[in-house]
Amino acid sequence: MEKLPRPTLFDFHGVYMTKYFTDNWDNIQNFKARSDDIVIATYPKAGTTWVSCILDLLYFGQTSPERQTSIPINERVPFLEFYMPEGHSGKDAVDQLSTTPRLIKTHLPVQFLPRSFWEQNCRIVYVARNAKDNVVSYFHFDRMNQIQPEPGDWNTFLHNFMTGKVTFGSWYDHVKGWWEKKQAYSNIHYMFYEDLIEDLGREVDRLSSFLGLSPSAEEKENILTGAKFDNMKKNKMTNYSTVLLMDHKVSPFMRKGKVGDWKNLFTEAQNKEFDQDYKQKMKNTTLQFRNEI
Ligand code: A3P
Repeated sequence: MEKLPRPTLFDFHGVYMTKYFTDNWDNIQNFKARSDDIVIATYPKAGTTWVSCILDLLYFGQTSPERQTSIPINERVPFLEFYMPEGHSGKDAVDQLSTTPRLIKTHLPVQFLPRSFWEQNCRIVYVARNAKDNVVSYFHFDRMNQIQPEPGDWNTFLHNFMTGKVTFGSWYDHVKGWWEKKQAYSNIHYMFYEDLIEDLGREVDRLSSFLGLSPSAEEKENILTGAKFDNMKKNKMTNYSTVLLMDHKVSPFMRKGKVGDWKNLFTEAQNKEFDQDYKQKMKNTTLQFRNEI
């Protein structure tokens, strides 16, 4: 596999970003949404691929079942702001989608979402995951993914996460920003990774109802099977093994898929410091997370 130099982080309008998500900025900001577009917005590692897979099954599982075994999830659900001049433009990939609705992935904080999505009143599915599991998953991801900055050691990464010095900036601002937006904009369905783990069937029902869909019992069964961790891990079209920039020998993309795995990495001292800082950063929000279920 060809090795790319790791990108550096810089402050981009108050949010830490890398060139891969800012180089195509004007085109992204001027993106023309369609009213039936569906946005999947997340902070990295919150369960984006999981919910992308669920949405793809909900919309196309019956009409085009072959998609599940023939088109990688990152092509079925393009990553809007991702841009490599010599390789890939997420925005162009969205423009080239021929399916309806278009499913569009983004990690942008709420203030950066292209205006057209709001103007078109698009439906947005936001997925959030508790900070501790999110940071652990992000650490392993940055180890294995060449387009991410070097994470450094675990302690360094944890502190960078706490101060928002990771790609897409502060987890705290991201989850709160989208949560606050949801209070004013009714077309956001705010989901939690922990709820998906607890009861996938219930979450598929809630999501379907938000989207105005009513899958049959058989369709639902098909979704629950396709979106199972073990099945997604085995399926080359959902496990990212087709993406050569990722080294799955360092850490697989489909790593553990659990709530509470953070306990294996946080030391007692790190946990205490993290909790204190968390209280401070999350004191002015009604948003609540579960670190275990
Ligand atoms: P872990 O690293 O904790 O295993 P994203 O898609 O936003 O990058 O998130 C990736 C995380 O979601 C990884 O977490 C991955 O294992 C988990 N994930 C993906 N599909 C899943 C599924 N079907 N069930 C549970 N977790 C899943």
